[in-house]
Amino acid sequence: MAEVEAGGVLLRGDTLEALRANLSLAIPTRVLERVARFEARDFATLERRVRAIDWERFGRGFSPRAACHASRLHHTGAIEERLGRWLPAGETALLARFDRDVCVLSVDTSGERLHKRGWRVETGPAPLRETLAAALLRLAGWAPGEALYDPMCGSGTFLIEAACAAQGLLPGRLRSFECEARLERGLRARWLERPSPSVATTLAGSDRAKPAVEAARRNAERAGVSSALSLSVLEAAHAQAPAVTGLLVCNLPYDRRAEGAAHAADRLRRALSGPFAAWRAAVLTPDRQTAGRLDRAVTATHAVDNGGLRVEWTLLSAQS
Ligand SMILES: C[S@@+](CC[C@H](N)C(=O)[O-])C[C@H]1O[C@@H](n2cnc3c(N)ncnc32)[C@H](O)[C@@H]1O
Repeated sequence: MAEVEAGGVLLRGDTLEALRANLSLAIPTRVLERVARFEARDFATLERRVRAIDWERFGRGFSPRAACHASRLHHTGAIEERLGRWLPAGETALLARFDRDVCVLSVDTSGERLHKRGWRVETGPAPLRETLAAALLRLAGWAPGEALYDPMCGSGTFLIEAACAAQGLLPGRLRSFECEARLERGLRARWLERPSPSVATTLAGSDRAKPAVEAARRNAERAGVSSALSLSVLEAAHAQAPAVTGLLVCNLPYDRRAEGAAHAADRLRRALSGPFAAWRAAVLTPDRQTAGRLDRAVTATHAVDNGGLRVEWTLLSAQS
């Protein structure tokens, strides 16, 4: 059972469960394994509690990082320096979070952040992180089986994420994880061998920039889903719907003054009022006004952090 916590979700399990989470969950940025949780108001208590832990279970060497909120131990540099003195040094990130004098120690089981799936080597301008694209699709209520079109597909992140989900391909299949060194060899293969159902889904997209479409094609090939996608070089206003109904997703371009987004939204409105009139839509925009240019009823909006930039994910109902 999962419990929602501030900034994350808590799952119960061991390192094997952490490997499964790394391999199969599309949305998290990283999977941390909790080592211990205790109260510590001074360094003597912290040292006693840290030294009592069987660290070999969690890695060979550690690289400590501290964060503190409303705690007597509040000097992050001093905490990191002490942890570095008490534990062998190494690559495994060790996070020490202090909140109201309660210290939570966790090790990072992922290594590189999980949006680095291994297939997106080429990007266009302002690419979406793969984990964010997966989360946005989920927020839009998309699931394999529903047709999906992205008229400003850039490097193809939405479409490739959707294609992998539709074909039952695990998000982490092309990369390795920090915790694997601690597990028996072959465990990963056991998870990957389990067949996942594949759901027939119409997936298509376009972009007016030829290099972006070419990059999207190569990324799709690396992900092993190129035969599931139809991609073309096209101005958004001329995009054609590949099915009667579906979800149109779009990450509009934007500059600091959002003029790029407004102009692109005007082009998108033409597609939405024509061939995609019976489709629902979801757009990522720098502000709410931009989505307002699309002349569609808004069903929900979500404020989203896109690489440190606050943007809006707006869901729009079908027109007819
Ligand atoms: C923010 S990027 C999309 C990034 C994409 N989601 C990704 O992950 O790579 C916006 C894309 O819109 C395209 N674009 C801008 N105006 C367009 C238009 N009028 N018609 C088609 N594509 C357009 C740009 O070429 C760019 O690739």
